[in-house]
Amino acid sequence: MSAKTLIRFEGIEKIYKVGKLESTVLSDINLTIDEGEYVSICGPSGCGKSTLLSIMGVLNGATKGRYLLDGEDVTKMKPAEHARIRNRQFGFIFQAFNLSSEMTAAENVELPLTYRKELSRKDRKELVDEMLEKIGMADYAQHFPSQLSGGQQQRIAIARALTGKPKVILADEPTGNLDSKAAAIVMGIFDLLNAEGTTICLVTHDPRSAQKAKRQIHLFDGRIQEKEGEGASESEAAIQDDETAEGDGYSNRLHIV
Ligand SMILES: Nc1ncnc2c1ncn2[C@@H]1O[C@H](COP(=O)(O)OP(=O)(O)OP(=O)(O)O)[C@@H](O)[C@H]1O
Ligand SMILES: [Mg+2]
Repeated sequence: MSAKTLIRFEGIEKIYKVGKLESTVLSDINLTIDEGEYVSICGPSGCGKSTLLSIMGVLNGATKGRYLLDGEDVTKMKPAEHARIRNRQFGFIFQAFNLSSEMTAAENVELPLTYRKELSRKDRKELVDEMLEKIGMADYAQHFPSQLSGGQQQRIAIARALTGKPKVILADEPTGNLDSKAAAIVMGIFDLLNAEGTTICLVTHDPRSAQKAKRQIHLFDGRIQEKEGEGASESEAAIQDDETAEGDGYSNRLHIV
């Protein structure tokens, strides 16, 4: 039985314009990610990894192309629908943990749930407790971020991303600010989540973290090339030709208009 396609990029292009400068960050990206996949995205600084992830998570729109999420064309949806998708389908984890310093760990984890009118306070508390338990932070529920180590803060950020039970976790350099022990814990949580069926897209500079993913996508010069990681899945990705480019490691093609 083949897995269900969850994310499908068809000819996705992203051009940023700053003043008169146009910069093509992504060009003609064709990519499919199936439900339950664990994909890493690597590439040199500035090659568009965060941009790719932000388009996936509907935080940012493409300049051209089609994005189908669960078969639905995201590019045609209204902003209110985008907000709903972000909240329901995706859990975001960033390098800087982005926790609210005024809130306790439990309140931070609860935050995404407060936008869900159908959940009672009791439902929310149950979900928060479940997530804190899962990431081994139940004892720290009442701590504020400043009272937690970097690794603990990132685990709280993961719990916050998970409380809404998203289908997809989008993680942008989630271990970039962590020491190797804390990073190993975070990577272990991702393994566990993926084993439970959560789809994971992980942007990382760290080759060891990238190896953990079953599928590795490399971004270079605005295009993708990919290879299968350890224990690779059989997903059929639309693989583009490897455009071997030489240069300074930066991918942008700049055009003065
Ligand atoms: N909002 C924006 N407006 C204009 N240009 C942008 C914007 N966001 C990103 N860029 C440019 O797009 C390019 C790709 O940025 P992006 O953040 O996606 O790279 P990245 O691969 O995540 O890099 P890093 O590994 O350093 O995080 C960069 O040259 C950046 O300057
Ligand atoms: Mg980035």
